[in-house]
Amino acid sequence: MISDEIVELVSQQADIVAIIGEHVRLKKTGSVWRGPCPFHQGTNANFSVMPRGGYTCFVCGEKGSVFTFVQKRLGMSFVEAVKYVGGKCGVDVKETETKRDGPDPREPMWELQATVGEYFSRVLWDAPGGAAARDYLASRDVTRSVAERFGLGFAPREPGALRAHLNGLGYDDTRLLAAGLLVKREESEEPRPRFRDRLIFPIHDISAHVVGFGGRLLGPGEPKYLNSSDSEIFQKGKLLYNLQNARNPIRRDERVVLVEGYFDALRLVAAGLECVVAPMGTALTEQQADLIAKYSRSVFLLYDSDAPGQKATFRAADVLLAKGLEVRVVTLPDGDDPDTFVRKQGREALDRLIEGALDVFDRKVQLLERAGWFADLQHKRRALDRLLPTIRAASDPVTRDLYLARAAQAAGVAREVLLSEVHTVRRGSGPRAAIPRNAERPSGGRSAAVSDPLWSDGPPPAPEPMPTGPYRSDVDQANAEQTLLRVLLTQPIWQDQIIEELGKLEAEDTPGGESGEQDALGEDAPSLLRDPVYRAIYQATMRHGAAAAPELIAEELWPLAVHVYEELRGETGAVVDAKQSIADALRALRGRSVEARIRSLESLLGLASTDEKDRINVAIRRLTDEKRALGVQSWGAVRRKSDARRPDGRR
Ligand code: GTP
Ligand code: MN
Repeated sequence: MISDEIVELVSQQADIVAIIGEHVRLKKTGSVWRGPCPFHQGTNANFSVMPRGGYTCFVCGEKGSVFTFVQKRLGMSFVEAVKYVGGKCGVDVKETETKRDGPDPREPMWELQATVGEYFSRVLWDAPGGAAARDYLASRDVTRSVAERFGLGFAPREPGALRAHLNGLGYDDTRLLAAGLLVKREESEEPRPRFRDRLIFPIHDISAHVVGFGGRLLGPGEPKYLNSSDSEIFQKGKLLYNLQNARNPIRRDERVVLVEGYFDALRLVAAGLECVVAPMGTALTEQQADLIAKYSRSVFLLYDSDAPGQKATFRAADVLLAKGLEVRVVTLPDGDDPDTFVRKQGREALDRLIEGALDVFDRKVQLLERAGWFADLQHKRRALDRLLPTIRAASDPVTRDLYLARAAQAAGVAREVLLSEVHTVRRGSGPRAAIPRNAERPSGGRSAAVSDPLWSDGPPPAPEPMPTGPYRSDVDQANAEQTLLRVLLTQPIWQDQIIEELGKLEAEDTPGGESGEQDALGEDAPSLLRDPVYRAIYQATMRHGAAAAPELIAEELWPLAVHVYEELRGETGAVVDAKQSIADALRALRGRSVEARIRSLESLLGLASTDEKDRINVAIRRLTDEKRALGVQSWGAVRRKSDARRPDGRR
């Protein structure tokens, strides 16, 4: 913080003409000075500087004070700019202490990390044990000067080396253990260093304190990278690698390039692109997006070209869009990451790629289009379901509008239809719930062309918490699923009957499905069971047979599912009339499935042509009759609630 008085004083004392004159050829014309605008690279004298005021460009509209000029041209923060200008006009700019008086309590921790960082780099450059790491850097085309710029080091192989060195400097084991530099698996064990035989990347906070390290194995092995454990000064999700160096370049260039890895960041900086930061192997967090937003509104995502890279790209994009940032995606050739690309092709080729970056939404549309996802109604539905979250994520209203228009155009759907979908989270669009199966899973032959071009997430993660009572599924008609399992597990003679009935239901659920479009019965069929726990138990039971040894089945399950499995198995005698129970359960599941198909068809209506609408409506009427005939209650309200809480994170 700088006090208002000092800012005012600097502003009065500053010779704005002289300061701007260092960057722009200015000529006096009347009471002002004029020259070519440095912001839009103008050639005519449209840029005007007022000796007692600010500057303005009549063409591009840039205007501001002496401080904004310095901030923008030199990439400084406001405080730095005031200090810089103060330095030019002889005003001593002191920051007022805003926080606690006295030293920061984290000071000793920073000091320790810095000491360790220095030790690692000494080992890298001067110790015989560092030779392998020096060779490794050479093999990856990293020069000593670049390595030194990033403070790289090497953690030696000898287990006692770091400890002896630090003990010698007066740091005792307790402190080193607390800092996570030494670790013990058991109390009685000798402490060992966390980092051994690894190339070390020091990680800094925004004020350039060393707060932790990332260490890379020189050869193959797991884990490839090891980071410091989280501590008071090191929280991976709140730091960005290289931000301490990149922040001024980011301000100056008015953009930030986000890469995935340490080596990517290092390579790009070495190639002269300084505005680069990287998260540390985790998905981009909201706090990291906040950090970025402080320095620039424009983000270029430059992630690996592989599938995980693409997935991470779109995830990060949604986080950034939610902060109102503008997000572009740079697409690397197959098989490259930024490091390998720049090494092979050089900086200019990279600049061309960055130049050609697409807005993240356009990139999504492009991928969906290329995969043919706007061709038929049901894929269109899926494509829009993939685009809607990004439209919703965009917190900037202008961007949102633009996205809406683009999606409407790509899908050939009225903007209003999409708009209403943006505002309502569609029910039951989880796997299987909304769209008839044949649309969800294309048949084997076409799967390459229509496999999810945006790399959606795989199956839902298994719920982890241990139960504290009877398991309560929040899936609609969970009772019916539970009943089927109970019969299956307590009276295995009904196994064939249950499989057959579920198989029939499965076939009905796949209207018009040819045999090729159905999964083989058995393993995949019971996806009709929607509760993840019940489904897993059913699948495991099918693999081994209902009469198999329970241990065999339990082995395939996670703790919560084992618990439920054991409970159900124990409920012998709970099922009196198995035949009737199976029939009732099947009727409930059939009703649920019909209901889901109705909803799925309804969700297509907005996208359909008049012809298609007619056909869809006929189908809806038929299903509604079927539902009525089953005597199934409408359970809309309950269902909505449970769908919103699906554990798979989808809507
Ligand atoms: P190189 O293979 O050395 O070029 O590294 P990279 O940076 O290209 O690595 P990669 O693309 O595999 O991973 C990107 C980033 O994820 C790395 O820089 C690390 O921050 C992180 N990362 C990769 N592997 C691991 C791992 O095994 N454990 C942890 N904690 N982080 C990892
Ligand atoms: Mn790499």
